[in-house]
Amino acid sequence: MDRYQKERLVSLLSSPVKFDSSLSRYTSFAIGGPAEALARVDKKSELAPLLRFLETESLPWRVIGRGTNLLVKDQGVEGVTLLLGKEFEDIVIDNSSQARGSVRVGAGYSLIGLSRKCAECGLSGLEFCSGIPGTVGGAVIMNAGAWGSEIASVLRRVYLISASGQQVFERDQLKFVYRKWLDFESYQGKAVVSEVELALEKGNTDTIKNQCQVLLEKRKAQQPTNYPSGGSFFKNPDGDSAGRLIDAAGLKGFRIGAAQVSELHGNFLVNTGGATAEEMLQLMRIVQLKVKKNSGVELEPEVHII
Ligand code: EPU
Repeated sequence: MDRYQKERLVSLLSSPVKFDSSLSRYTSFAIGGPAEALARVDKKSELAPLLRFLETESLPWRVIGRGTNLLVKDQGVEGVTLLLGKEFEDIVIDNSSQARGSVRVGAGYSLIGLSRKCAECGLSGLEFCSGIPGTVGGAVIMNAGAWGSEIASVLRRVYLISASGQQVFERDQLKFVYRKWLDFESYQGKAVVSEVELALEKGNTDTIKNQCQVLLEKRKAQQPTNYPSGGSFFKNPDGDSAGRLIDAAGLKGFRIGAAQVSELHGNFLVNTGGATAEEMLQLMRIVQLKVKKNSGVELEPEVHII
């Protein structure tokens, strides 16, 4: 970015912009080189003008949410890395009807927080999200899921903001598959998920809270929380589990530098302290090779590598 571009970027946002700022503090892996520019968008009204500027200047950009499911390479990220602030964390819950309720929530809202809030309001449907880190926007783009449920099944509407303004999509206009919102590919680098609406069912607050607690404990027992990670590293292949295949290849505990295949769950590649992205990527490639050799299956990363 040249000086003019940097000054213009700063002038478009109410929150300060950081330049050459390490992304390791902003990712759940605690790994990542510097962002050329790291900018938080606090006001919705700032987003479309910002995207117009980025488009005019042909500057690459990306929203990173809470940096979960994201491996940032050591050389860092060119262009503008975006975080969604204040006005993207609004939430409006409507549980006035007898059997159903709905939530309109900003894309920057925490998924764990949303699951908890809905439980407190006696709304059922997001129990599976308890313990899934990340933002609501990221969860929709990835079609986050657990325990046989996924976000697409409770989604009613998605709001996108692009350089030309806001667009609204109804659920039946959108296609989701395992861990992916298919249509979003054509909006990547053009539009930002700003808000979503979810359709939930009314339920008993204590029952919902209990279910959240049960799933959280199950997650804690099966998945490592002692080290930074990106959650499940690989997608599950059809009809099998990446964790089982990695385990069967004898890779649990295997390490490259400070990057390690978790001893608890094979599909978690963890940062045991100061791992580089290169170490993590080398570990990924070795895991892929050994699993391929052992079982013939090609594992595909679920984690986005940028
Ligand atoms: N297994 C092993 N060894 C291991 C790990 C797992 O043998 O080291 C076996 C388990 O015993 C089980 C099977 O593999 O029979 C599946 O494992 P698990 O129940 O842990 O589920 P998973 O398929 O590894 C998926 C999601 C998780 C989600 C859990 C619970 C993917 C890639 N992962 O894990 O999602 O929390 O189910 O529903 O779909 C994420 O996406 O980041 C994530 C954590």
